[in-house]
Amino acid sequence: MLDTAETPGNDVQDAIVPADVAATVVAPKSYVDDTVIYPALAWLRDNVPLGKASVPGYDRFWLVTRYADVMAISRNAKVFINGDNNLVLNTQAGDAYLRQANGGKLRSMNSLAFMDRPEHAVYRSLTATSFMPGRIRKLEESIREIARASVTEMLAHEGEFDFVRDFAMHYPLRVISSMLGVPQEDEAHTLSLTQRLFGAPPPSPDGAAPTMDAAARHWRDTLEEFHAYFRELSKARRREPRDDLISLIANTKIEGEDIREDYELDYYVAIATAGHDTTTSSTAGGMLGMLKAPAQFAALKADPSLTEGFVDEAIRWSVPIKHFMRTANEDVVVSGQKIHAGDRLFLSYPSANRDADVYADGDAFDIRRSPNQHLSFGNGPHMCLGQHLAKLDMRVLFEELMPRVASIELAGEPEHTETNFIGGLHSLPVRFKAA
Ligand code: HEM
Repeated sequence: MLDTAETPGNDVQDAIVPADVAATVVAPKSYVDDTVIYPALAWLRDNVPLGKASVPGYDRFWLVTRYADVMAISRNAKVFINGDNNLVLNTQAGDAYLRQANGGKLRSMNSLAFMDRPEHAVYRSLTATSFMPGRIRKLEESIREIARASVTEMLAHEGEFDFVRDFAMHYPLRVISSMLGVPQEDEAHTLSLTQRLFGAPPPSPDGAAPTMDAAARHWRDTLEEFHAYFRELSKARRREPRDDLISLIANTKIEGEDIREDYELDYYVAIATAGHDTTTSSTAGGMLGMLKAPAQFAALKADPSLTEGFVDEAIRWSVPIKHFMRTANEDVVVSGQKIHAGDRLFLSYPSANRDADVYADGDAFDIRRSPNQHLSFGNGPHMCLGQHLAKLDMRVLFEELMPRVASIELAGEPEHTETNFIGGLHSLPVRFKAA
């Protein structure tokens, strides 16, 4: 934890993460297999909870794995900032490309997650009220209609279907699209752009794996396509405002001036993209948790009052976002380690969420877990803007789903996306009996 009083002397050596463990935590493919990533993270918590990691092709960074440290760093946004650097761990080649494309900067979007105060507070306040629990609750009936329609569509599959592709993927997208003001007929387009933004670039024609500068280029090109789409929608909402977030943001003034176009378009991209892949992952993750522990399914079916606890546990256990980076902007001591201004820190949310100091048997999926103050939504001033919406989406969906299925079981191998950033299950074949 943060401890400026107890400054270690100059002779204190940095704790070092063994190269093989650092490589495991950084490799996207580690996250498809719980038996690879979680033992590596548990080893780090026990042996090097905060240590310097070196992985070929990446700048050195601090790997933060304990709950208390991830929490303390997230809350101290004065010392640990977001804006000056890349928010995710990118390769040196990828960062070099981004710098070149962004006039020397690594801030690749003008959206909340890349901002620091005072700018962050100004832009967050534009939509903060729209995402407060009181406001979000007013959407419950319209969200329930979307959930009911999704469950009805799912039941039409008669027995067997893919819980992610045929169900969990579409519902949060519909909810966030309707809140933003994206017409339903455009959802397939925004879904494909989101998947491209967070997915790997297409392989090169000679079949070689994409290079990291190709990945950075792919990110910029996709972002530009997103901008082109939202630019047209924004024009329409300026002409004829409606009761949606695009109308709210497009017509806002910052210190008496119209909002800058790049900030405006990135706001939409952030909400559209942050809001559905994550909720899809935790929805599917919660279902997988119950498929692996059928007594939990029976308990939830018998007692709908457990749904809120189920939702928290699904989000804790599935951890849709695997890490975010912070940069220290002054020298500081954290848990006995001397962090220098300019050092970067990798906050491991999957690790924090299974820390034995906070969670008894953190690997188990337990819908009665209480308290359950997980770090899947981060913490501090950047804590997820859409957390109440995500929880409402999931609660309503499972309230609608559970009474209509008698049983559900795995019908094939679940498949996870290879990512060290955003993602989770991309396929979950299931067989069910309708109630
Ligand atoms: C289960 C679903 C979700 C998860 C796990 C999740 C996770 C996160 C995390 C870890 C952060 C960064 C927190 C930090 O830096 O401390 C974040 C930020 C953010 N999330 Fe979510 N999120 C989810 C759903 C949503 C939804 C539905 C929206 C819709 C608006 C959303 C919008 C955002 C935005 C705009 C930010 C940036 C906030 C800021 O920097 O001030 N998220 N989210």
